[in-house]
Amino acid sequence: MAEAPATILFVGDVVGGIGRRTLLGLLPTLRERHDPTFVVVNGENSAGGLGITPKIADELFAAGVDVITLGNHTYHRREIIRYLDTHREILRPANYLRSQPGHGTCVVERDGVRLGVVNLSGNVFLNAGRAAFPEADAALHDLRDRVDHVLVDFHAEATSEKVAMGWHLDGRVTAVVGTHTHVPTADFRVLPGGTAYISDVGMTGPRGGVIGVVKEQAIRSLATHMSVRFETSQEDPWLMGVLIRCSPQPRRADAIEQLLVPWDGAEAG
Ligand SMILES: [Fe+2]
Ligand SMILES: [Fe+2]
Repeated sequence: MAEAPATILFVGDVVGGIGRRTLLGLLPTLRERHDPTFVVVNGENSAGGLGITPKIADELFAAGVDVITLGNHTYHRREIIRYLDTHREILRPANYLRSQPGHGTCVVERDGVRLGVVNLSGNVFLNAGRAAFPEADAALHDLRDRVDHVLVDFHAEATSEKVAMGWHLDGRVTAVVGTHTHVPTADFRVLPGGTAYISDVGMTGPRGGVIGVVKEQAIRSLATHMSVRFETSQEDPWLMGVLIRCSPQPRRADAIEQLLVPWDGAEAG
């Protein structure tokens, strides 16, 4: 079993072209600064703010992303459906119906370290066909003896559900990171059992909008209760993520650090 400590860079929901340019623009600097063993990115909003396409997934993998996780917008773009079944390193929530395309866990190996990644959807305010907590247990059972570290992306709305998942998996996985709200929380820490945790990593995209949408359009919709066409904001792009330092002990973390990085557009065309 590999004992070399590894580092995981996890990046929150990439929103639209602006989010992709932010990620691709900042990734070389982040690699230089932190030398991550693994890069895992939530891509559920990477195509025009909703869903992901094969071309975009290919682009992220070509940039060195090891695993793409998704969430409630997984199937928004129909062209991704076949890709989800043919590519191991892109995940949809594991607790979706078994009949839905794609899969919810994978294992990647870098520098002799095996990382299992599990994508789960919350059951509160989100439409997941099966329960997240027993599925988390089943996924860990499935990964036993095949991994040195495990990262869980819990794509969920309610902070209570996320905090509970952190405690449920404490001491059994390397990290539980929350996604979906697009707003980063300040509660990142290593739990007593050794699991790195944060309720929400935030998004990689325009901080100048309303969780990714042009703010005037979101406000008009809320103020008038009329149908408004939403576009992705281009204002004030930031990369939001976390850096997890794995412990030499399997499935444990030594540290979790929050990364909130503005992008001025200078580092890529
Ligand atoms: Fe999202
Ligand atoms: Fe989401």
